[in-house]
Amino acid sequence: MYVCLCHSVTDRDIHQAVVNGADTLRELSNQLKVATCCGRCASCARDVLQEAQAMCAKPCNKQSCVKEMQLS
Ligand code: FES
Repeated sequence: MYVCLCHSVTDRDIHQAVVNGADTLRELSNQLKVATCCGRCASCARDVLQEAQAMCAKPCNKQSCVKEMQLS
């Protein structure tokens, strides 16, 4: 689903950013420009960030990472 319409950012983009190390809304904004225009997506982006972080909470190795399988 689209989270940020201004910059065409999806939940998958946010999950991938978390996999790549983003752990704050500011880092998402730096990487994806989410919430840097009208700002209406900030709350939803934060929710998706937290969801992605919860999925990342368990240690995993990259080859069997559930997140990456869902993203591919
Ligand atoms: S919808 Fe994300 S900045 Fe406007």
